[in-house]
Amino acid sequence: MRHFLRLFLPAMLYLRSLSCLLVLLLSCFSVTIVAAQTSNNATTKWLTLNGDAPLVIARGGFSGLFPDSSYDAYMMAMGTSLANVIIWCDVQLTKDGVAICFPDLKLNNASDIDFYFKNKKSKYFVNGVPTLGWFSIDFNFKDLAPVTLRQGVYSRTERFDESQQRILTVQDVVNQVKPPGLWLNIQHDTFFSQHNLSMRSSIISLSRSVLINYISSPEVNFLRSIVARLNRRITKLVFRFLGQEDVEPSTNQTYGSLLKNLTFIKTFASGILVPKSYIWPVDNSLYLQPYTSLVLDAHKEGLQIFASEFVNDVPFAYNYSYDPISEYLSFVDNDDFSVDGVLSDFPVTPSATIDCFTHLDKNDKTQVKLLIITSEGASGDYPGCTDLAYTKAALDGADVLDCPVQMTKDGIPFCLGSINLIDKTTVSQSPFHNIASTVPELNITSGIVSFNLTWDEIKSLKPEITNPWLEFRLYRNPKARNEGNFVSLVDFLTYAKNVTTVSGVMISIENAAYLANQGFGVTAAVLEALRSAGYDNQTAKKVMIQSKDSSALKEFKKSRYELVYWIADNIRDIENSTVSEIKSFASSVILTKKSVFPSESKFLVGKTDVVQKLQSSNLSVYVQCFNNEFVSQAWDFFSDSYVEINNYIAGAGIDGVITDFPGTAARYRRNRCLGYKDQPPYHGLVDPGVLLQFMARQLLPPAEAPNPILTESDVVEPPLPPVAKIIPTAGNNSATANAAPTSPIGHSSVGAGILACCLSILLADLGIF
Ligand SMILES: *[C@@H]1O[C@H](CO)[C@@H](O)[C@H](O)[C@H]1NC(C)=O
Ligand SMILES: *[C@@H]1O[C@H](CO)[C@@H](O)[C@H](O)[C@H]1NC(C)=O
Ligand SMILES: *[C@@H]1O[C@H](CO)[C@@H](O)[C@H](O)[C@H]1NC(C)=O
Ligand SMILES: *[C@@H]1O[C@H](CO)[C@@H](O)[C@H](O)[C@H]1NC(C)=O
Ligand SMILES: *[C@@H]1O[C@H](CO)[C@@H](O)[C@H](O)[C@H]1NC(C)=O
Ligand SMILES: *[C@@H]1O[C@H](CO)[C@@H](O)[C@H](O)[C@H]1NC(C)=O
Ligand SMILES: *[C@@H]1O[C@H](CO)[C@@H](O)[C@H](O)[C@H]1NC(C)=O
Ligand SMILES: *[C@@H]1O[C@H](CO)[C@@H](O)[C@H](O)[C@H]1NC(C)=O
Ligand SMILES: *[C@@H]1O[C@H](CO)[C@@H](O)[C@H](O)[C@H]1NC(C)=O
Ligand SMILES: *[C@@H]1O[C@H](CO)[C@@H](O)[C@H](O)[C@H]1NC(C)=O
Ligand SMILES: *[C@@H]1O[C@H](CO)[C@@H](O)[C@H](O)[C@H]1NC(C)=O
Ligand SMILES: *[C@@H]1O[C@H](CO)[C@@H](O)[C@H](O)[C@H]1NC(C)=O
Repeated sequence: MRHFLRLFLPAMLYLRSLSCLLVLLLSCFSVTIVAAQTSNNATTKWLTLNGDAPLVIARGGFSGLFPDSSYDAYMMAMGTSLANVIIWCDVQLTKDGVAICFPDLKLNNASDIDFYFKNKKSKYFVNGVPTLGWFSIDFNFKDLAPVTLRQGVYSRTERFDESQQRILTVQDVVNQVKPPGLWLNIQHDTFFSQHNLSMRSSIISLSRSVLINYISSPEVNFLRSIVARLNRRITKLVFRFLGQEDVEPSTNQTYGSLLKNLTFIKTFASGILVPKSYIWPVDNSLYLQPYTSLVLDAHKEGLQIFASEFVNDVPFAYNYSYDPISEYLSFVDNDDFSVDGVLSDFPVTPSATIDCFTHLDKNDKTQVKLLIITSEGASGDYPGCTDLAYTKAALDGADVLDCPVQMTKDGIPFCLGSINLIDKTTVSQSPFHNIASTVPELNITSGIVSFNLTWDEIKSLKPEITNPWLEFRLYRNPKARNEGNFVSLVDFLTYAKNVTTVSGVMISIENAAYLANQGFGVTAAVLEALRSAGYDNQTAKKVMIQSKDSSALKEFKKSRYELVYWIADNIRDIENSTVSEIKSFASSVILTKKSVFPSESKFLVGKTDVVQKLQSSNLSVYVQCFNNEFVSQAWDFFSDSYVEINNYIAGAGIDGVITDFPGTAARYRRNRCLGYKDQPPYHGLVDPGVLLQFMARQLLPPAEAPNPILTESDVVEPPLPPVAKIIPTAGNNSATANAAPTSPIGHSSVGAGILACCLSILLADLGIF
């Protein structure tokens, strides 16, 4: 406790009231509240057993971030969740019968016990399975004093490991954390009985001094043994289902077969806890199947039903597009049922879901001014820049559809996220694969540039979905991997003009100088397409022209289009003269995420003034690129794309987002909490740098070289060269399958083209995993 307060002293300077103490991470202005506002008047809409809003149960505290069952994890859960959050403790017993909170029977799962007691590894039978490890039954509680908790899930950050978080007893958790609700899970009663330790007496004696709201166990006999000894109005017993094929040790039946008789369960429990797949099963390829009748069945039996295994940082069904709120909503806000609670490692997300995002309608008014610009359409769901990606984006609520323009050999501008066809199409499996070449000017080591094929040839290829987080084995909608059709710029413009919900288009131009030297006047082609699609003398749809080359934007000076300058580098500041220079040719700017919130090893270290400086000169600021995949986000945002967006909008005041997942931004914009006078903590702002204060000095992320300041000379460019007069004749078919063999197909460097937009963000950080 003392340690904790010391650690947080600096953070506490930000905090203005006592209740803020809980809000470790979140800015203070947000706090007070919750209890009153949480019970939104949608109460009658909840299809839970008792009609109340579903509960959020924080498994081991905020175990998605901090070591499971640690003081910091529990406090963080309390500080970022609904006011009535239930704190979950996995109870284990020590040799001297002390009940501790620890996630696993084996203490080496999430602590450094193996370091302190090298020789005390044992082998025991656990439900008949020989198991090797460090077991709590071999240690008296006081022996565990030096042991500290660690992150047991290796994909999560290990930077909080050495921060002196001790193993806590159940009593410690109650005394120090003071949870509004307590849930004890007894995963192994049989094992402890076999070692002459009585979980039953421990729990009964605890129940005399501590208010226990829920006790769960996957063992029938344990629950039956205590049911008569507890006041069931105070303490609810919950039978926990494990895998359908797993065998329940006291009845020797599988959980799947126990599920068939809920009447039996009802004889000793008032609720059940099931893995989420019991309710929404997924097939082998991780697509959702229709939901089962389990929630309705349980409710019919008078049983509450809680769903487990909610985490933001493990792939879940593709149907949710990596949007964790979308997943929670399918459990608590569908037309047919709501579970009575969710067990989560990231309690901030279900808290926000329940208070801010349930019972929203697609047509609810947006609560905040925020322009949603796509990045290659809904490229999180479909191959970028295809008709499918654009249709989905429009359906999902995007305001502005983007088209990164490339040129074909026959001079047709079309939409594709890279000049190198290998990045975004199946060209390397096509007859054209052998025309690959090196293009030093574009940093392409082996590629096939779009202007080496005709439009007809390109249309003969298939698009390829982009998987920017392949390194973490996070795939995007594999079923649609090669679906959709390429669209020409004119077709794109015609489509966008016809969709009433779309307010504008953004055309991105890269490599204009290089293309001019190759005989392609891309800016002229864009102007011509806009004219022929009827955009030149209309005002209904906004037209944005985007480039990181000021020289390309200057070609559009005479038009009335909004010119958008992309500052592709991460910068820490911008000179006044640079702002003036940008202002001379653009009316808005695109920044990288790190130019707003710089980070080191994915931990925020501050906030720049760049947004404010640009806006004070009347330049609008958009930020790219927002992805739903948790690896794209700083840890401070809790692996929750909504928390991230909220911090950029409400915290940094940007005017728009550029995103692969427009549906997520559109849902954010409608969320009810934006309309609250006081922001609840699960919809609050993070203080950049606060997480660093939870770390031991030796585990602080290494300081990185500061980002540069953007100067005028970074922005000023010579004008585009004249378009070289080597216009290829349309239909000339020299680049065919018979073309002379060239170098083997490889991949272009990431630096080239628009591909870099979303990819470059984190490449520097990847080392930390
Ligand atoms: C919720 O209740 C408050 C006061 O009871 C009322 O002012 C508000 O309009 C209600 N909101 C909705 C969405 O029904
Ligand atoms: C701890 O247990 C969890 C859950 O079973 C598992 O995912 C994780 O890999 C384990 N970690 C260690 C270090 O054994
Ligand atoms: C448990 O107690 C019984 C009887 O007191 C004893 O026979 C047995 O050896 C003990 N088992 C263990 C694992 O200590
Ligand atoms: C449990 O069931 C299995 C087969 O279903 C049987 O082989 C085994 O003997 C049973 N064990 C007990 C303790 O009943
Ligand atoms: C289900 O359980 C109830 C209560 O224990 C029992 O009376 C009933 O026979 C069981 N039904 C089946 C089909 O086993
Ligand atoms: C999930 O997506 C797959 C593939 O698009 C689709 O077939 C399935 O019906 C979806 N599942 C649900 C429950 O919508
Ligand atoms: C190509 O890469 C080099 C070194 O990585 C870099 O300096 C240069 O700016 C890049 N050029 C382009 C066109 O991206
Ligand atoms: C415009 O949209 C309507 C329906 O919204 C559709 O029927 C029509 O074909 C579209 N026109 C074009 C040119 O796409
Ligand atoms: C521009 O608008 C005028 C009047 O609205 C119309 O007559 C003209 O045809 C339009 N020009 C083009 C190129 O569409
Ligand atoms: C930059 O501009 C701001 C506001 O326009 C002004 O307050 C500040 O002093 C200027 N900085 C410099 C170095 O001129
Ligand atoms: C920004 O625009 C507002 C109104 O459009 C104007 O009053 C103000 O002077 C402008 N500021 C700058 C720095 O251009
Ligand atoms: C276009 O393809 C030809 C082979 O057909 C190749 O020699 C040339 O280098 C390619 N141009 C570029 C820019 O890749």
